[in-house]
Amino acid sequence: MSLVNLPPKPGGFIPRDRTWQPDGLTPTYKTSVRRSPQAPLLSFPSTLSEETSPVFGHHLIGPLDNDLILNYAQPGQSAIGPRIIVHGRVLDELGRGVAGALVEFWQANAGGRYRHKKESYQAALDPNFGGCGRTITGADGSYEFRTIQPGPYPWPNGMNDWRPAHIHFSLFGHGFAQRLITQMYFEGDPLIKRCPIVGVLKSQEAVDALTAPLDMHQSVPMDCLAYKFDMVLRGQRQTYFENRKEGL
Ligand SMILES: [Fe+2]
Repeated sequence: MSLVNLPPKPGGFIPRDRTWQPDGLTPTYKTSVRRSPQAPLLSFPSTLSEETSPVFGHHLIGPLDNDLILNYAQPGQSAIGPRIIVHGRVLDELGRGVAGALVEFWQANAGGRYRHKKESYQAALDPNFGGCGRTITGADGSYEFRTIQPGPYPWPNGMNDWRPAHIHFSLFGHGFAQRLITQMYFEGDPLIKRCPIVGVLKSQEAVDALTAPLDMHQSVPMDCLAYKFDMVLRGQRQTYFENRKEGL
């Protein structure tokens, strides 16, 4: 059974399972060699402002911020690629929705190309696609945005490594240090099992928790397919977050 499908434990504290997260040093993911700590971690007490200070307000969301098909497009035009809806919920360890969380997302275009000055992949830019957006979860922790399905892209890791199609996610809580970052993959992508970054995960359950299934119920006929991606902030069923060890 997938860990994401386990029923929530009733009541009580669910301790964090630190073995669920990958090790910091994973040489098959080359960048981890330089990024992982070389000395034992030190623990610093957090300050009051780190734990409580607001970092955003609901007023910052624009009308097209959750529509990557249109938010960078010229009037009357739209981004090129398979049109999709990505939706899901941000959940706590008991399966309860987390309201008011800022969800940010960024991705490559349909050809696998990022709009970034350090991008080195030769796939073409789409003049109508910027590649980033944001939204805020509703009362039940739900979020939704519209985009195009990103393409896979090569990256300088091994001799010929390719990233599976993916969307990067950032979740902000209500304190400065409450930020979690992860990636969503697409059901059925043959590159998932070949990816050195996915390969640092310790179990198939962890990979499955980052893989969004096709959701025909939320698709729109003649318009968009849909994928469902829930993110669990902590506890027994926690989503893998790249920066988990850094946060509060
Ligand atoms: Fe990426």
